[in-house]
Amino acid sequence: MLPSKILVTGGLGYIGSHTSVELIQQGFDILIVDDLSNSSTEVLEGIKKITGITPEFIKLDLRDKKEVNQLFEDQPNLSGIIHFAAFKAVGESIFQPLEYYENNIGSLIYLLQAIENKGQKFSFIFSSSCTVYGQADQLPITEHAPIKKAESPYGNTKQIGEDILYDNSRSNRLLKVISLRYFNPIGGHSSIEIGELPKGKPQNLVPFITQTAAGIHDKLNVFGDDYPTLDGTCIRDYIHVVDLAKAHVVGLKRMMADEQNGNFEIFNLGTGKGNTVLEVIKTFEKISGVSLNYKIVDRRPGDIVEAFANTTKANKILGWEAENDLEVALKTAWEWEKKIRNI
Ligand code: UD1
Repeated sequence: MLPSKILVTGGLGYIGSHTSVELIQQGFDILIVDDLSNSSTEVLEGIKKITGITPEFIKLDLRDKKEVNQLFEDQPNLSGIIHFAAFKAVGESIFQPLEYYENNIGSLIYLLQAIENKGQKFSFIFSSSCTVYGQADQLPITEHAPIKKAESPYGNTKQIGEDILYDNSRSNRLLKVISLRYFNPIGGHSSIEIGELPKGKPQNLVPFITQTAAGIHDKLNVFGDDYPTLDGTCIRDYIHVVDLAKAHVVGLKRMMADEQNGNFEIFNLGTGKGNTVLEVIKTFEKISGVSLNYKIVDRRPGDIVEAFANTTKANKILGWEAENDLEVALKTAWEWEKKIRNI
């Protein structure tokens, strides 16, 4: 029998590449598929530099049902998947909802159909988001917090994706699912061989900070300082991407060892600690020695005031917890930015 292989969709993207590294380092044989719409094959070089292994890679658009079926026919030894491939820009999703539903939902359905057709045990990890909670009524946020109506098509694709997986895990008893709800992933690998490569102007805070410090933008806009928080700016739970990546490997091992409760589980992945935007800026200035030019501007529509995770479930059941703090995460983000800008 061929040794089993793990499919990593979107494995050249930001979280996908860091998870690919952790999988390889834990001895998994992986196959990366990626459509390169928001990534490049250079990432394979970075993965090789860290692990000594160039993972198998196939350029594939998962919206092509035929191609997805062909992939599963050609790769009979696939036994698990970590499904990162999806569009992720909140603002863009509001203007292109159909593209978001087609890609994020269509691909998921094709993958699940191909898995069902195999008629074998299969482990599935889904990239979900804390965005499903909206502004939670209670903090820190547990997995029991109610799902709020999504603020964007992107957020809705995560909610619908979880529903599809839940329904399919009931009808296909050979399918095991873990949905991981990420809080705010930041930073990059400590080797500085892989990191975040945002397409166009970044919408997220940390890449905007590092790009501003690198001189690409003349200033950082801080969206609102009149929120009901300590310093008036919003609070988020910033988690180092390598910590996040490690949780995927733990989740996969749990399913493959048949240790799951039922065949559908959800875990929050965060540090459990909230930081304001101004705290992130101050911490960045401290670790980089760069004084950031920032300006308080109006609130960004759709932003929630405060979100940070209760991580007890992941701590207890997965035996996982975030090891790196905000300083470490920001240092790796800054080292990476300097490297790619030749600073
Ligand atoms: C955003 C998405 C969320 C998605 C996540 C993925 C929204 C409303 N939410 O989360 O659905 O899962 O990205 O990473 O877009 N900020 C500034 N100036 C900037 C950029 C951000 O002040 O230039 C502030 C924001 O107002 C927010 C914090 O920084 O308070 C974090 O913002 P961001 O990195 O965009 O993450 P989220 O909004 O939490």
